[in-house]
Amino acid sequence: MTYKIGLLGLGTVGTGVANILLDPEGRNPLLHEIEIKQVGVRSLTKPRSIKSLGDRDLPEDYCTDDLMSIVTDPDIDIVVEVIGGIEPARSLVLKAIAHGKHIVTANKALLARHGDEIFTAAKSTGVYVMLEASVAGGIPIVQALKQALGANRITSLTGIINGTTNYILTRMHEAGESFESILADAQKLGYAEADPTADIDGFDAADKIAILASLAFGDRIKLDRIYREGIRNITGTDIKAATELGFVIKLLAIARRPEISPESSESQELDIRVHPTLIPKHHPLASINGVTNAVTVSGDPIGEVVFSGPGAGSGATASAVVADILSVVAALKTSQQNHQDHPKINQLMGCSHQHYASVQSIDKTINQFYVRFITRNQPGVIGDLGTCFGKHLVSLESVLQKPSLESSSENLAEVVIVTQRVIEGNFQAALAEITKLPSLYNIPTVIRIL
Ligand SMILES: NC(=O)c1ccc[n+]([C@@H]2O[C@H](COP(=O)([O-])OP(=O)(O)OC[C@H]3O[C@@H](n4cnc5c(N)ncnc54)[C@H](OP(=O)(O)O)[C@@H]3O)[C@@H](O)[C@H]2O)c1
Repeated sequence: MTYKIGLLGLGTVGTGVANILLDPEGRNPLLHEIEIKQVGVRSLTKPRSIKSLGDRDLPEDYCTDDLMSIVTDPDIDIVVEVIGGIEPARSLVLKAIAHGKHIVTANKALLARHGDEIFTAAKSTGVYVMLEASVAGGIPIVQALKQALGANRITSLTGIINGTTNYILTRMHEAGESFESILADAQKLGYAEADPTADIDGFDAADKIAILASLAFGDRIKLDRIYREGIRNITGTDIKAATELGFVIKLLAIARRPEISPESSESQELDIRVHPTLIPKHHPLASINGVTNAVTVSGDPIGEVVFSGPGAGSGATASAVVADILSVVAALKTSQQNHQDHPKINQLMGCSHQHYASVQSIDKTINQFYVRFITRNQPGVIGDLGTCFGKHLVSLESVLQKPSLESSSENLAEVVIVTQRVIEGNFQAALAEITKLPSLYNIPTVIRIL
C-alpha cells in the first residue's frame, strides 16, 4: 500500500519536499511507500525545476490550481500545506481536516492565529496536525518538546528564531554597516522579504515563540499577549557600545515560567516576549550568526539543552516537513496493522491543549537594562538620573559618562547606565520621570540584558 500526499504549494519549501519524496533512495525506507498524488499551485504556467527529476518540471497532470479538489480527494491521506499566509491556507486546512486528512504544515502565521480552531477540528475528526517546520526550519525543536524532553518540567525557552534579523544584526556587529544598507542587501540576497515588517518588527518571532511556548507549557497562547519589539531602532552606536561592554545584540524570543514560591497563591503567569537583547559574549546564543537559528531549553531535571541549525531554506525546511510526513505514515501503518479504520491518535504526536495560558504584562517582568542617555554637559546630571531611579526602587550596577558620539556639540554628554535586575514597571516609571529632566537631551537606546 502507498500513502498519498496532496502537496499544497510548490515554492521554496514545496519544491524541497518534492525533491525528497521523488528521490527516496538512501533515506528512510518508509519513503518508498509514500507518493505525491497531486500538487496545488497558483500559476499553472510558471516554469518549475525539480532537482530529483534532473531539473525537469513535474509531469503536467500532477499540478492543479484547484486546491479544494486536492483537500477533498478521497484518495489522499495527508495534505501538506506549504502555501503560507492565512487565506486560503486556513480554509483549505479546515476542509482537509473535515475530509479526514492528516495535515503537515510549515505555516507559523496560520497556527499562531488559528491554531485554536484547527486543533479543535483535528481533535474532533481524529487526525494529526504536524508542525515541525513552522518553527526554526530544520531544527527538530517541536518533536523535542513534544517527545524527547517530555519528562522535564520546562522552565524556559530562549531562541534566535528569525534568520533575517539575526543576519542583519550579525553584519552590523561584523562590518559596522548601517541597519538600512544591510536590510537592502538582505533583500537582494533573498534573506529578507520585499516587505520586511514581519521579520524586522518581531511578528514572525512572536508567532514562533507562541507555538513553542504552547508546546512547552501545555496551554494555548494568545498572540496579542506577547510583548514584541523589533530591531529597527538599533544603531551602529548601540552595537559599538554593546561590544565595549562585552555583549552582542540579538533579537531573542523568550518564554519563561517565572519561579513562584510554593506558598504563593498567585496563579502562574507565563513571561513571553520578543525584543532585542544584550547577551554576554560567552553565552551559547552569542555565537549564533547569520541566518542560523538556535533555541536553548531549560528544564528539570535535564538542565539546559541547546539546539541550533538552519532555520529556513528549501532543503532544511523540507527536512522537517518530510519527517512529519514519515511520523504520520508510521502511525497510519500501525493502525492498519491493528485493523483500525480510524487511527487512534498518538498523544505524543497530537496537540490537545484546551485552555489559554495567562501571560504576564511586561511591566510585571523582572529585567536588567542597558540605557544610553544623551544629556546636557553640566554638573549634577548623574545625580539627577540616580535620584529618579532611586525614587522608583531601581538599583544601578554601573554608570559611565563620556563625550557624546552622536553629536559634535561639546555641550552634550553620553551617560550609559546598566541597572540591576528590577521590576520593569518601576524602571519605566523612572524613565518617564527622567524624560522631564531639563538636563536630558534624549534617550536613544534602552535594551534589556539577558
Ligand atoms: N521559505 C522558507 O525557508 C520557510 C521556512 C520555514 C517555514 N516556511 C513557511 O512555509 C510556507 C511556504 O513558504 P515558501 O517560502 O515555500 O513560499 P513560496 O516560495 O512563496 O511558495 C508558495 C507556494 O504556494 C503557492 N500558492 C500561494 N498562494 C496560493 C494560492 N492562493 N492558491 C494556490 N497556490 C498558492 C504558490 O504558487 P505559485 O508557485 O504558482 O506562485 C507557491 O507554489 C510558509 O508558511 C512559510 O512561512 C518557509
